[in-house]
Amino acid sequence: MEISVVAGNITQQESPAIVVGMLQGVTDPAGALGEVDQALDGAITSLIEDGEIKGNRGELTLLHTLGKLPSKRVVVAGLGYSDSVSINTVRALAASVGRLLRSKGVTQFVSVVLGTGEGGMGESESAQAVVEGAELGLYRFDKHKTDQSSPQVREITLIAADDSKIANIESGVNRGRIIADAVNLCRSMANEPPNFMTPTMMAENALDVATSTGIEIEVLDRPQMAELGMGALLGVAQGSDEPPKLIVLRYHGDPNNEENNLGIVGKGITFDSGGLDLKSAAGMLEMKSDMAGGASIIGAMKAIAQLKPKVNVIGIVPATENMPGGKAQRPSDVVKAMNGKTIEIGNTDAEGRLVLADGVAYARSLGITKIVDVATLTGAVVVALGNLASGIFGNDQNWIDTVIQSGESVGERLWQLPTFDEYKDQYKSDIADINNTGGRGAGATIGALIIGEFADGAQWAHLDIAGTNRTSSVDGFNPKGATGAPVRTLVALAESQSSE
Ligand code: BES
Ligand code: MN
Ligand code: ZN
Repeated sequence: MEISVVAGNITQQESPAIVVGMLQGVTDPAGALGEVDQALDGAITSLIEDGEIKGNRGELTLLHTLGKLPSKRVVVAGLGYSDSVSINTVRALAASVGRLLRSKGVTQFVSVVLGTGEGGMGESESAQAVVEGAELGLYRFDKHKTDQSSPQVREITLIAADDSKIANIESGVNRGRIIADAVNLCRSMANEPPNFMTPTMMAENALDVATSTGIEIEVLDRPQMAELGMGALLGVAQGSDEPPKLIVLRYHGDPNNEENNLGIVGKGITFDSGGLDLKSAAGMLEMKSDMAGGASIIGAMKAIAQLKPKVNVIGIVPATENMPGGKAQRPSDVVKAMNGKTIEIGNTDAEGRLVLADGVAYARSLGITKIVDVATLTGAVVVALGNLASGIFGNDQNWIDTVIQSGESVGERLWQLPTFDEYKDQYKSDIADINNTGGRGAGATIGALIIGEFADGAQWAHLDIAGTNRTSSVDGFNPKGATGAPVRTLVALAESQSSE
């Protein structure tokens, strides 16, 4: 999508559509809305009087200008009450405006920087939110459809009041584009069918990120992982004919300050059949996106490499299928992770914590002291939180709070669940150091604590995104399918660690 910024007055634009915002409760339109109203001989005022336009958050009214303005259509976009207008409002609003206009066959439109009126946000923030909203809301995963003819919005122009405001708005546009592209990369990887998005293809995607941004990449194959003693990851991989990959992306943003590091580690199970503890048909159906955590790492690394915060970030993705092939690991096998800990396999379907055990241990072996892992880890977190929040767990309250705050700053909800020491009794093993399962209760906590066993003194937080990584219906700026969560949280977190 092309996005440009021009100085001028929105009423003078010649376009298939122009977009103006309206606060709830306004009776006498002012600013851009007022000028459009005047040009339309008071049509907006009279619709307000009739009670048809209220300015409620998300309310959209499409008017035809019938020659009274150079543009063919006007969209009045409701912002809600002035004290509640936020970048989250504008992001979602821009998404629904984009979809409304696309549904009318409009491929190009002009918008004001929404929500910047009295008491509103800055123009750069608004521009970022509009671009994020439009790019995220208009995203479509249609590459496997043979008919590629359905219309798409190709161009959005943002209006600046005068030339002096262009640079600031453009900087917001640039940030918005970088972040939305990263989220959409994550979505596309997670939406891709599992016969396409194999561990090898995940590594290819990571390689594209590395070559386009100039960051370092290393991809370890099976023999290299065996050399490092990654028995937990390789145990999961042995039931599949697809070769596993350990993908490592490195961004050196603070090269003279090695201690200022962040490791982000994502579950990359490209298909989770359950292994010999085979899932039901219904349970297996969504398991192509069991690599969404890993995809979020690759997406976030792409944005971080472009936004350049002053912090060193390593992205690690242990990628493999979990299949029930002839060489598959058995329930009751014992494997050894790279840090020497032994794990009894209570259930082959609890594979995420196994690949993350080696992923997190690998981060530690590289000297990383601050870790966040991201995984579609448990059905239990979906029971607890539904799809409104990801679960967050960890071993250090300050670090957990920092991650929650990063999520909050971008409108991605994280809700902390407990990790009381007594829970650890649940995954004791009679014959190994630990078991990979822990009975009925507190399933999301047990999964988290097992990963935490490999954090070894680092500040560590775990995000369980099983409920938030996809949506079954259009929801704000999320189309049906992969959401790209928590890419924006990870990017905000990296920026929060910038020593600048
Ligand atoms: N990938 C699943 C978790 C999952 C379930 C993600 C539903 C998204 C939607 C994970 O590997 C898994 O199978 N977890 C088991 C763990 C159990 C065997 C201890 C689960 O949650 O049932
Ligand atoms: Mn599983
Ligand atoms: Zn899984």
